[in-house]
Amino acid sequence: VFPNAVSIASTVDAGLDTRRRRRTAVRIGAGVAAIVLVQAAICALAALPVALLWHALVAAVPGPLARAALAALLAVPTYAAFAIALLVVSPVVMRLVGVRTPAGAEMRIAEAGWPLLRWCHSAVATHLVRVVAGSLFRGSPLWSVYLRLDGARVGRRVYVNSVHLADHHLLELGDDVVIGAEVHLSGHTVERGVVKTARVRVGAGATIGLGSVIDIGADVGAGCVVGALTFVPKFATLAPGGVYAGIPARLLRGAGSDGAPAASTAGQRPE
Ligand SMILES: CC(C)(COP(=O)(O)OP(=O)(O)OC[C@H]1O[C@@H](n2cnc3c(N)ncnc32)[C@H](O)[C@@H]1OP(=O)(O)O)[C@@H](O)C(=O)NCCC(=O)NCCS
Repeated sequence: VFPNAVSIASTVDAGLDTRRRRRTAVRIGAGVAAIVLVQAAICALAALPVALLWHALVAAVPGPLARAALAALLAVPTYAAFAIALLVVSPVVMRLVGVRTPAGAEMRIAEAGWPLLRWCHSAVATHLVRVVAGSLFRGSPLWSVYLRLDGARVGRRVYVNSVHLADHHLLELGDDVVIGAEVHLSGHTVERGVVKTARVRVGAGATIGLGSVIDIGADVGAGCVVGALTFVPKFATLAPGGVYAGIPARLLRGAGSDGAPAASTAGQRPE
């Protein structure tokens, strides 16, 4: 009886496993299809005005040589116009479809659940804009407008010279914040196969130096300077007005005692 029961149990387990794997495959397929459809629609919408203009202008010019010359002349402005349109169309459509990174989430990659697939969709949308428009417009006011439209809380006179910002709904940048080139600032991290999310705040007047990494849950106080190539650990709190540098970030001068580590609640989620 016992060997029979074991063999029945393992057959049932295998059946359940197969069903679970099939459901996961279907979910991933549906998630990927949704991403491709929505992102293709976003690109088409952003390209439509320039495509119509192109068509009208090129058709109005007589002769193949003149048409080719005009097309060559329009190539770069057309690309820039498409990129600018994408800065607006992508966040507006992503708002309409309601896809954004939730705060305080823990999503196991192996499970490939809907929250993870939705987070992937939001990451793909951000990446597409980064690739198409980021290198042209980072560091310009248009980049701050895009971040704001895409859900980040961005104050006035904010200068963001990095394309490596993600999970915009979870980011808050106060007035006069400067984000240096190649700074990584996102509302997610991945640890042992789990995507974890939390808000990140950079207080008014703070400067984040070139190439720094600001981990999830970090709270950079107003007026702080974070030195180049600094790592601010997750859920760390940097005191207002402090100058911090190093890996992990240490107080060089300013608030508190020199050489002290960033006040940190690493590993905890102070909700
Ligand atoms: C952090 C920073 C502001 C400190 O400048 P400062 O107050 O004039 O300090 P100092 O240059 O006198 O350096 C003080 C000490 O910190 C160290 N230090 C400075 N910057 C550091 C950094 N990024 N990482 C590690 N250590 C650093 C110095 O080596 C020095 O160490 P020592 O006392 O053992 O000699 C500056 O070094 C920096 O990193 N600026 C980058 C700003 C930036 O990227 N802005 C964005 C531009 S868009």
